[in-house]
Amino acid sequence: MSTLAVERLTTNVGAKVLDVDPTRLATDPDLADQVAEALETHSVLLFPELNADDETLVEFCRKLGKLINFSHLPPETAEVMEISFDPSNPNAEYFASNCFWHIDGLLDEIAPKTSMLTARVTSAEGGETEFASTYAAYDALSDEEKERFADLRVVHTFEAIQRLTYPNPTPEQLTEWASRSVREHPLVWEHDSGRRSLVLGATASHIAGMDIEEGRALLADLQARTTAPEQVCQHSWTNGDTVLWDNTGLVHRVRDFDRNKPRTMHRSTVAGQEKIK
Ligand SMILES: [Fe+2]
Repeated sequence: MSTLAVERLTTNVGAKVLDVDPTRLATDPDLADQVAEALETHSVLLFPELNADDETLVEFCRKLGKLINFSHLPPETAEVMEISFDPSNPNAEYFASNCFWHIDGLLDEIAPKTSMLTARVTSAEGGETEFASTYAAYDALSDEEKERFADLRVVHTFEAIQRLTYPNPTPEQLTEWASRSVREHPLVWEHDSGRRSLVLGATASHIAGMDIEEGRALLADLQARTTAPEQVCQHSWTNGDTVLWDNTGLVHRVRDFDRNKPRTMHRSTVAGQEKIK
């Protein structure tokens, strides 16, 4: 059986895959299992200048699990979401919040497991994607903190993340945000694997049953520790790069870039199977 050659990018998160090209992606029957295992270890896998087309990428993602169908898209392209600030993009308004640390899909019943992002048009400056491990963040807590946080629950809202981009919302925005689901998750996720991670990010509004400001201060402190510069894996995009990440063990964000210039990323997402508990 072939193996996956990787090189670590930082101590806790990220590895570069050294020996995969589009042909191997399409034909190696063992690759999906090797990639899933490497993702569990490294949380982020970079395939530098893979230059695979959407069809090949989607076919490979299907081997990792059930793909999410982005229902607003035509059926033939529904498994590939285009992320850009082009005014014709129906989601452009909400992509603005991607620059804050977050976990995808925390407002859904089950958060996605794996996302695959491919650079089609890169920005000349900025636009890097950053990742920080929420497993490492949990592991770094003191024993006293682990005990104290064990039963805390965090309320996640669409409003919390949107307010970071739109601090003075219109009544229409407030109404639209309020129509979105609200989810309460434990602060500490005990995964089926037995590993534990923190559940944090820009959707976190407050801690249930705790004074609002006290809870927000705790969340801010935990997020700052999780995403301290030495904990972050930053990827600077080249056209044709593909990155896979384990959405269940990370927070991620995009760094600022000129949104008036073209930048296009294609994303496919593998559905999660595990509720946060
Ligand atoms: Fe995201």
